[in-house]
Amino acid sequence: MKQFRMLINADDKLGHINPEIYGHFSEHLGRCIYGGIYVGEDSPIPNIRGIRKDVIEAFKNIKLPVLRWPGGCFADEYHWKDGIGEKSGRKKMVNTNWGGVVEDNSFGTHEFLDLCELVGCEPYISGNVGSGTVRELSEWVEYMTFDGVSPMAELRRQNGREEPWKLKYLGIGNENWGCGGNMTPEFYAGEYKKYASFCKNYSGNNLYRIACGPSAGDYEWTETMMTAFNDQNKWLMDGLSLHFYSIPDWNNKGFAVEFDDEGYYTLLETANFVDTLLKRHSEIMNRYDPEGRVGLIVDEWGTWFDVEPGTNPGFLYQQNTMRDAMVAALTLNYFNRYCKRVKMANIAQVVNVLQAIILTEGEKLIKTPTYHVFDLFKEHQNGEAVYCWSENEKIGSKHGVPMVSSSASVKDGVLTLTLANVSLDEEAEISCDVCNFAASEVSARILTGDAHAHNDFDAPDTVTVKAHSAELKDGKLTVKLPACSAVEVTLR
Ligand code: AHR
Repeated sequence: MKQFRMLINADDKLGHINPEIYGHFSEHLGRCIYGGIYVGEDSPIPNIRGIRKDVIEAFKNIKLPVLRWPGGCFADEYHWKDGIGEKSGRKKMVNTNWGGVVEDNSFGTHEFLDLCELVGCEPYISGNVGSGTVRELSEWVEYMTFDGVSPMAELRRQNGREEPWKLKYLGIGNENWGCGGNMTPEFYAGEYKKYASFCKNYSGNNLYRIACGPSAGDYEWTETMMTAFNDQNKWLMDGLSLHFYSIPDWNNKGFAVEFDDEGYYTLLETANFVDTLLKRHSEIMNRYDPEGRVGLIVDEWGTWFDVEPGTNPGFLYQQNTMRDAMVAALTLNYFNRYCKRVKMANIAQVVNVLQAIILTEGEKLIKTPTYHVFDLFKEHQNGEAVYCWSENEKIGSKHGVPMVSSSASVKDGVLTLTLANVSLDEEAEISCDVCNFAASEVSARILTGDAHAHNDFDAPDTVTVKAHSAELKDGKLTVKLPACSAVEVTLR
């Protein structure tokens, strides 16, 4: 067993943890929407207006704060008017990005916003820049949010929704350096200005407009965007997105469940690169925006493996093990630590795609190890991140990955500490001085198992959260972290 000292100073505040850091992403891709979230009103699977009841409950349980939709690459070929009105009259189209399947548009704007209302989360709409028009996006905003007399507000009413919805988060394009139009940052910045200018605030609605940002370490994209919005146009950009997938080798992604020790640590080392990305993009943004007005929005992140054997390669369906849970835990700890700049993050994707929190098969639903990490970390939402230092050691891979990951926050007189021990075989004992926080009670929960452990439809609870022990004596917290574990400690 390795011993690590840790120090928390509850008086040293790092910033507010926006609940949206614990956000999710849903795309018209594979079985994310159809079958995963939406089964239609006539389905024998219990549903509310076509939306699976079990999915709504699972989302609510982790306090899912925000959901991004309809893409992804799909967003830049989505025309919202195809997805409103009588379902029988909706256009059928080809989903060119994801398997060339027929998209019947039965899940559109009304269904998505209904889902968000049922879950109690913020909607985050990703607008079409690549193959759309300024008018199309501006009318979408009018359709959703305008309360008065206008062609789009009338159309919404004809389609059965009298009251406008509130829409805060609006993405203007997706990966416009790639599937969203293969643009240079200079060209995109010009396009963005047009789109953002005509997406208006109606009826007391207040848009938070998010620009397409860099792919992983493309620091030049960030620099160009921050330069382009360093003048009287500042107000047009509230957030800049960042996409980062943990993929050590694009040509040989490997399977979610089959890996050796080297594969395990290499993936974690790749995931840990998020620390460098957040640091370096923040440094650039700090130079232009020292007051931190523009949020860094990590609206796609997570693991990406080869699809499960026998499944459609365009559907990106993968299993999810304790290795994925370790990626989630260390990434979320970093987001907490960088919460001054990171205002939202959306793991890809919420159901049946990539690092999903939920997998479905017909009427069956399982919660993945990644789901349980979101459950363990949920009390950080709306907390104040506080200073949390730990002794550490690099282990495992070529350049090494820190064995212990941690972050802490305080909210309503409760201190939440989340930890992970990514070692495959060594236990860690944490001995933590907790300063400036008077606690008399401690409780803990744990998620642990073999790195390959996962849930499936025959054994849905192989990996699940359990109670754990922790000790608090004279301001010193002691907790043991078994190999490959994530732990939540609560002090009150
Ligand atoms: O999440 C899958 C895809 O990854 C998204 O559609 C795209 O934005 C990214 O490349």
